[in-house]
Amino acid sequence: MITIIGAGKVGGEAALFAALKKLSDEILLLDIIEGLPQGEAMDLNHMLSEQGIDVNIRGSNDYSEMKGSDIVVVVAGSGRKPGMTRMDLLKINTSIVKGVVENIKKFAENSMIIPVTNPLDPMTYLTYKVSGLEKSRVFGMGNMLDLSRFKQFIHQATGYSRDSIQALVIGEHGENMLPLARYSSVSGIPLSSLLPKQKIEEIVRDTRQVAAKVIELKGATVHAPANAISSIIEAVVKDTKEVIPIATYLDGEYGYNDVSIGVPAVIGRNGVEKIVEVELDSDEKGWFRKGVDSVKNAISSMEF
Ligand code: LAC
Repeated sequence: MITIIGAGKVGGEAALFAALKKLSDEILLLDIIEGLPQGEAMDLNHMLSEQGIDVNIRGSNDYSEMKGSDIVVVVAGSGRKPGMTRMDLLKINTSIVKGVVENIKKFAENSMIIPVTNPLDPMTYLTYKVSGLEKSRVFGMGNMLDLSRFKQFIHQATGYSRDSIQALVIGEHGENMLPLARYSSVSGIPLSSLLPKQKIEEIVRDTRQVAAKVIELKGATVHAPANAISSIIEAVVKDTKEVIPIATYLDGEYGYNDVSIGVPAVIGRNGVEKIVEVELDSDEKGWFRKGVDSVKNAISSMEF
């Protein structure tokens, strides 16, 4: 069973994607708002009935109903408003996520947890520490979303099919994210062979800033996060062994310890099955370190 905690726009759409992909026979939507998860579940079940898809979606306000979950997605918490950074949500979401994870520990102690709530990397660290789960069973959705934006900018700049584009983003899911142009290509053709340096630098900058632009225009990001959540769940459920950038706890990888941040990892039925270390040049190392410093600074100020 897949449980999604937070039945707002992103949680509801993640349930929709997961159901359409038939990633579980049963999906539970949980929220503290009376009626919201129940109404969302009814609406989704009506859609699934017309589609002839036998995935049952339940909505509840009772945490105990997540008993037996295999995967728990944590979307609960406040979203940023126009002009805010993800890190601005640290204080309010630390207490929310801590309470949510304590309930996961109580009712779904054998699950894997996918944090989504921002600031994603500190929330992933908090989830790992509070849940007491193996580090391989806690992996945050952040860079998967960033790379979807990086791919869109590459598609726009080159005009080539989105299906031919491979891209990688690692590091903080935040102001210091690291779109890795050197490891991005179109059908294996390096980006540097297709676009001038200045254009690549512009695409990297735009990837860092675009979420804030979407929030300014429509108030929140919904479809891209929900899709990225379902892609990560799919890799687990289908044991695909895909290499996906996710936030996870580092124990020396990339030269860092005791921090959760975005790195490429092999994702399968056991969650994070292997962290893939790619060689970084001095500029890339600088951005990665800025992200680590930002996350460690946040962690040091958290009380949990
Ligand atoms: C974004 C939020 C989910 O990047 O952090 O859209």
